[in-house]
Amino acid sequence: MLLKDHWYVAAWAHEVTRGLLARRLLGEPVVLYRSTAGDPVALEDRCLHRRAPLSLGRVVGDEVECGYHGLRFAPSGECTLVPGQDRVPRVSGPDGRPVPACVRSYQVVERHGFVWIWMDGAAPGDPAAIPDYHWHTEPGWETDYFYVNPRADYRLAIDNLLDLSHATFLHRGNVGSTALVENPPETIVTDDAVEVRRRLRNVENSPTFSALMGLARVDNFRGTVYRPAGDIRIYTIYEPPGNRDPERQRIFQVLTPVTPETETAHHQFLTHCRNFAAGDVRDRFVREVQVAMMEDQGMLESQQRSLADDRTDLPILNIGTDKGPLAARRILDRLERPPRAAAPRRFP
Ligand code: FES
Repeated sequence: MLLKDHWYVAAWAHEVTRGLLARRLLGEPVVLYRSTAGDPVALEDRCLHRRAPLSLGRVVGDEVECGYHGLRFAPSGECTLVPGQDRVPRVSGPDGRPVPACVRSYQVVERHGFVWIWMDGAAPGDPAAIPDYHWHTEPGWETDYFYVNPRADYRLAIDNLLDLSHATFLHRGNVGSTALVENPPETIVTDDAVEVRRRLRNVENSPTFSALMGLARVDNFRGTVYRPAGDIRIYTIYEPPGNRDPERQRIFQVLTPVTPETETAHHQFLTHCRNFAAGDVRDRFVREVQVAMMEDQGMLESQQRSLADDRTDLPILNIGTDKGPLAARRILDRLERPPRAAAPRRFP
């Protein structure tokens, strides 16, 4: 079950233009574009007429014109034009009375370089609840942007990012080091958040960061913070062992919002902000981070296939580093549970 009553990243802000962008979000086909005023618009990507994807049409003024027979839809979703007819037919509403014919329109907000979408039709979302991703557009940082689309349940990505001990093995040639598996993390759990963190002293640096920082050994404070449904950030501070000079700290933030595409695929929009690996060495940073992301994608997709055809009756074995991922699953399980019906009143 996918949680609709949360804000999700639908797209990078720069992806949403005066053209039409098709994207499946939480199992629903959505088409995104910008109005003449520059505001993002999100509509159901399915024409009312013969169900052609609206994303195969074109933007005309503020409206979308279906590419098949030319029906037009306003940002509100209302059908405004049927070519060759004087009027748009009305349809039967929930109470049987005629109402305007509409495709679904979604609430969207542009913030911190993303277009956020609220997909719960039952009640509007509160924009104050949009995760704070100001780092994404903060000036003064070296920043690179990545997008991946693994064919895997988004919860596997949450597991992956809350248990970074996997980097020791899966990313041993780039961003992993033995320090992660040798130093169990501290896990902090609240009602709606999980933080997994490590404070490491004088440990081996990873091959990638060792080369980029010129530091084979480091003190390293790092953690992952997760909030439902898809808000994930990783923070890391590297410094020479015993350092007391803030100027020598190497700070690395990875913002990794995840949005379910379906129950078995997801979008990851990654922003890597840092105060190192600029200039000549940036290409190496990007190349090696991309390799690590492909390693993660390959593992998540293999895991998804393995889970899908798992016919064993053996329970999943949990180990110490699963504390964070298990806490996140418990929060999601609680949110996914439908509210229990009130017990019938008993009268004497
Ligand atoms: Fe869209 Fe016919 S399917 S106008």
